[in-house]
Amino acid sequence: MSRNTIARIDLSALSHNLARVRKMAPDSQVVCVVKADGYGHGLSRVSAALTDADIMAVATVDEGRGCRDGGWNGRLLLLEGPANTPEFEEMVSMGAEMVVHHETQLQLLRQRRHQIMQALWLKIDTGMHRLGFPPDQAAAVHAELEQLRGSAPTVLMSHFACADEPQNPMTRQQIQKFDASVAGINGPVSLANSAAVLNFPDSQRDFIRPGILLYGVSPCRQQPAGELGLRPVMTLQCDLIAINQCNRGESIGYGAAYRCPEDMRVGVAAIGYGDGYPRHARNGTPVLLDGRRTSVIGHVSMDMITIDLRGHEQARVGDQLTLWGPGLPVEEVAAWCDAIPYQLICGVTGRVKSVVC
Ligand SMILES: Cc1ncc(COP(=O)(O)O)c(C=O)c1O
Repeated sequence: MSRNTIARIDLSALSHNLARVRKMAPDSQVVCVVKADGYGHGLSRVSAALTDADIMAVATVDEGRGCRDGGWNGRLLLLEGPANTPEFEEMVSMGAEMVVHHETQLQLLRQRRHQIMQALWLKIDTGMHRLGFPPDQAAAVHAELEQLRGSAPTVLMSHFACADEPQNPMTRQQIQKFDASVAGINGPVSLANSAAVLNFPDSQRDFIRPGILLYGVSPCRQQPAGELGLRPVMTLQCDLIAINQCNRGESIGYGAAYRCPEDMRVGVAAIGYGDGYPRHARNGTPVLLDGRRTSVIGHVSMDMITIDLRGHEQARVGDQLTLWGPGLPVEEVAAWCDAIPYQLICGVTGRVKSVVC
């Protein structure tokens, strides 16, 4: 029998979450962000399930191809745009829309203007200092893109650095910078990622670009996903493969990082950092056993974790453990691991069986 370490993917939760997000931004179209293998949930199945999306957005050409292969024939956006001519050609052949964020891309577009059929998305850097044209170049670049493009209007976009912190003045400053830079330019606008959808409703504009919310995960500590009416799409589970009776004072696992405070049963579960379970999960990181909480003790190893079985006298080898999912939000687990939930869901490795339920 093969190892029973499984990521269950609930596609009905995905469509439910998209419907919830639409309610949060009723006047906006929704660009569903499915990069990084659909945030670790499986790109082709995720893109195929999000039939109600207005646009699907990915980071790379390969991911764009994955959406098309999965059956998505609707609007497709490449968030980083082309890095070179072959990528440009590939995007054109997929009928993809592309973000234009740098002068080198403008040069590429000038040489191949006759091939531009889809909308272009002009990215303006309002303070993130990652991708985008400086605000004072927005008008000139926009005018050039309008000349180069086919029939679709150029979308004006930017990206926020701190939208998950409602009190942080930076998002407000970024919105003001953006609005000033596009004053007098006509065109649809896209600013909001998931956190901005929640915390800065005035940034929702024509297109919102949620990722994490679709997967039933909240980007904001103060707003748990359950309270937002979202359902987790991924449930990560594994089995108990051994139970040991340990004596008070004995140590558990690598580095002898945990010492039993009393005689106790210790469970060994079949998941480790080789499966994407975070190596930095601290003593006390919660897990669910038989619907009740217990916790990780000792260091996470490559293939296994060890579990405190005190108070779980009924636990037997073969019992199933939930690492995150309904009843145990991945946000909470991430907080125990000095990680963000994005990392945890994107980090589940190919060794874990991923099944749709
Ligand atoms: C340009 C852009 N827009 C939207 C998103 C979606 O972000 P989130 O998952 O926080 O909603 C991302 C993700 O990193 C992004 O890079």
